Amino acid sequence: MINIAIIGFGVVGSATYETTVENAKLIEKRVGDTVKVKKIVDIRDFDDHPAKGLLTKNFEDVVNDRTISIAVESIGGLRPAFEFTKALLMSGKSVVTSNKELVATHGLELADIASRNNVSYLFEASVGGGIPIIRPLKQCLAVNEFTEIIGILNGTTNYILTKMREEGSSFADALKDAQEKGYAELNPAADVEGYDTCRKLSILCWTAFGKLVDIEKFDRKGISGITAEDITKAKAAGCVIKLVGRAKMVNGEVKCSVAPEIIPLGGPLAIADGVDNVIIVRGNFIGETTFYGPGAGGRATASAVMSDVIEIARSIVSHRRA
Ligand code: HSE
Repeated sequence: MINIAIIGFGVVGSATYETTVENAKLIEKRVGDTVKVKKIVDIRDFDDHPAKGLLTKNFEDVVNDRTISIAVESIGGLRPAFEFTKALLMSGKSVVTSNKELVATHGLELADIASRNNVSYLFEASVGGGIPIIRPLKQCLAVNEFTEIIGILNGTTNYILTKMREEGSSFADALKDAQEKGYAELNPAADVEGYDTCRKLSILCWTAFGKLVDIEKFDRKGISGITAEDITKAKAAGCVIKLVGRAKMVNGEVKCSVAPEIIPLGGPLAIADGVDNVIIVRGNFIGETTFYGPGAGGRATASAVMSDVIEIARSIVSHRRA
């Protein structure tokens, strides 16, 4: 049996738990062993939750449990996620995360700690929600010299802009709706002012170009200044407004920007509506390829989290057999 722990039992953490219950048999078949959640850490009470027997408020219960080999960090934010991740890696546990702020800020240091402790630090779920993008860049497209990445990388802002265009919703109502659906960050400024897109683009730059670009160096503009009138004008011109992140290699330097753009309907960026994200990757052999799907939400993001858990679990099983 492979024991895992979930640190942070919010939208992503609880959906990750659900995968291990609903798809337990399928996971076992694909891994070659059972994967079981042994402990869940959260400071809140979940008295009516079926997993209540696994909950602890004490993070040390996981660090000190030598039978747990993989931890899912789904707390979000920098603190205490950074300290917790370091402690987990140093205690010999692999860590899987959906925390883009932490990966974009401390990813290099955490990957280094993981490598020195012979464990993994994986973050497929940190970009694009459920869309496979980190592993395809690292593995399927590994031969390519990447030249450009363009994407709609934030589900909340795309959801807001879509609701404003299609239903005439106000900005505030559309944001409230996104928050109720579990798409938005705790501080929605991270979504609407473009910081979340910057962080995800920075992680993509690290993966594709080998450079984790400091988001302070990005040209950044959010969508808080977009009015109903802007949306109506774009619509009349056969266009949509989207928050777009762009990263391009220019003379060995990566140039990054995040800003709302007026996009003609029919183009690849215009296909992503609602919470969906789209990521266009250009490389010297593939030419151009597009990734598309749900960019936020518990179950879609848990799908990406579990892809990392399953990769590590398979490697544990194959090392045991070796
Ligand atoms: N707030 C983020 C978004 C969550 O809306 O895209 C997924 O990273």
